[in-house]
Amino acid sequence: MKKILITGGAGYIGSHTAVELVNAGFEPIILDDFSNSQASVVDRLGEIIGREVICFEGDCNDKSILEKIYKDHPFEGVIHFAAFKAVGESTQLPLKYYQNNIGSLVVLLGFMKEKGIQNIVFSSSCTVYGQPDSLPVTEDTPRKDAESPYGNTKKICEDILVDFVKSKAGVKVVSLRYFNPVGAHPSAKIGELPNGTPNNLVPFVTQTAAGIREKITVFGDDYDTIDGSCVRDFIHVMDLANAHVKALAYLEEQKVDFYDVFNVGTGNGNTVLEIIQTFEKVNRIKLNYEIGPRRPGDVVKIWADTTKINSVLGWHPQYTLEDSLRDSWNWEKSLTK
Ligand code: WQD
Repeated sequence: MKKILITGGAGYIGSHTAVELVNAGFEPIILDDFSNSQASVVDRLGEIIGREVICFEGDCNDKSILEKIYKDHPFEGVIHFAAFKAVGESTQLPLKYYQNNIGSLVVLLGFMKEKGIQNIVFSSSCTVYGQPDSLPVTEDTPRKDAESPYGNTKKICEDILVDFVKSKAGVKVVSLRYFNPVGAHPSAKIGELPNGTPNNLVPFVTQTAAGIREKITVFGDDYDTIDGSCVRDFIHVMDLANAHVKALAYLEEQKVDFYDVFNVGTGNGNTVLEIIQTFEKVNRIKLNYEIGPRRPGDVVKIWADTTKINSVLGWHPQYTLEDSLRDSWNWEKSLTK
């Protein structure tokens, strides 16, 4: 069974990807420093999968932890999720973001070259597109100056991967540009666990529904969109997880010194107000929300052209927006139990 190192594997997308990897016959080896996740997630993964999931606590900036893992578990591929991801915090603490997000990738790639590990799937983001001039965005849409140091680290990491492949390091790389991950595993045993006040929309919605937050503020309804609120491409985290498995399988078919990049979204855009209305309808709950001022740095509208991932990886989303909002609410309710 192929061992795959998942850095940040106790996190939101990493944990859901661990489930899909096992379903596809891989063995996930988790490395997580628990700076933005909880060790209890690994136990819940074991409940879902039906056996213990191997997990090491540590920072993938630290080569010695990689050596320690590899000695007992010579992994043959890597999925690199580990990164700080709070857009707002990154503008306050840019060096923390550059050191961690870029430093960890550089250490990881050096280790892969040293051991002859060929395959890596990198967690990138649609944030590299900034506000695109035309929609939907394809992978050829020009990347723009990021609105935040967080977004910049994603662009820089993509460039590092391209240069590393060009150096004939003997690796095969896929970057996946996530749109907006939402939802939770249908078992409600794992889901999004934001630290403190959620930055992202859907956890804020579910915490408002649970009475943890008093109300949702919609950051602007005077944009040039169908109802004035921003448009995003909200993709179920299980569909996103499955895209990583498909990307690994794709890499196994390629020769070394290979790089490719894919958008991972549903191909549909929904507004913030539509998310609120859909959540209310699906879960039969009235949400308390108000319209507030625009949030600086927000992209007005973005959604994916998914032609490439559909045709090259044979990947298609299986979950609907309603599934995402139902699963995220079931997960939130499980937390308050
Ligand atoms: C979505 C929309 C907000 C909260 C960022 C990163 C991306 C990825 C996901 C890490 C926006 C509006 C939000 C609220 C609101 N990063 N909103 N009230 O900004 O599209 O993407 O997070 O995983 O790389 O760029 O996601 O969920 O923060 O916001 O009105 O309380 O919801 O203005 O229009 P975003 P988001």
